Amino acid sequence: MIAIRKATLADVPGIEAVVRETWKQDILPDVCKAQTRCQACALYVAAKGDDVAGFVSAFLTVDKDGKRRWEVDLLAVRPASQGQRLGQQLVEAACTDERARDTPLARAAIHVDNVASQKTFENAGFKTDGEIHRLLTWTPAQDNGPIVYGGSVTLIPVDTLTYRGLWLEGLTAYNVDVEEQRKAVMMARSIIAWEGRHNTGAMTPAIGSHRLAADLRDAAEMHGEYRWFVRSL
Ligand SMILES: CC(C)(COP(=O)(O)OP(=O)(O)OC[C@H]1O[C@@H](n2cnc3c(N)ncnc32)[C@H](O)[C@@H]1OP(=O)(O)O)[C@@H](O)C(=O)NCCC(=O)NCCS
Repeated sequence: MIAIRKATLADVPGIEAVVRETWKQDILPDVCKAQTRCQACALYVAAKGDDVAGFVSAFLTVDKDGKRRWEVDLLAVRPASQGQRLGQQLVEAACTDERARDTPLARAAIHVDNVASQKTFENAGFKTDGEIHRLLTWTPAQDNGPIVYGGSVTLIPVDTLTYRGLWLEGLTAYNVDVEEQRKAVMMARSIIAWEGRHNTGAMTPAIGSHRLAADLRDAAEMHGEYRWFVRSL
């Protein structure tokens, strides 16, 4: 029988195989190993003995006001084991993990076309406000020179199973003008170059995408449209 349990170091190759099968992508083994021991994240597998059928990865972030969020970041069940609500059980395990205890909410960004994932998160108690966001990323840039930026855009470093990134929050807020947007993105691109991170990214509202400077939109890679699904913990 397939059971849900915390991942161990021995599960890393199994998680890697699920990620390859699902997204044709490699994992970052060091991050995966670290997530089996980390105090600010949770990594669970659905497994029969050592045979990993699926996994979920969640970690903590903190917004500019100090509010903690439990980011349910990656979820997958290999096709041969789907249809048994293992995804829902994995999400519920991640959300009831003791390391999420002082965190008021969990959230997940789900692609607008991913009906199976939307249903899975709804079955686990998540709800969406329906607002659509575009995920944009920028590459590292080493040649920006010194940048002085002390504005209100928040930079959040994240180590996920598939990339090391720097999330930008508040980039298209009403109090952030295009000059400040440019400075924030420029600084983020410098930091990720310096720290060897893969990208910096932002979720920007699809309605209101004009609020982002056109040159920043042109320089970004667009990864599709997502909705936030949120649940109280
Ligand atoms: C999301 C995922 C983990 C769910 O797998 P699962 O737990 O086996 O899900 P189940 O097959 O038990 O189905 C859960 C629900 O989704 C529905 N569903 C499953 N596949 C579907 C599809 N292709 N289209 C529409 N609905 C689908 C089921 O009917 C069920 O709905 P219900 O609650 O109304 O009965 C799995 O589809 C997956 O690994 N997808 C690829 C990776 C992914 O998209 N991950 C999430 C984003 S990080």
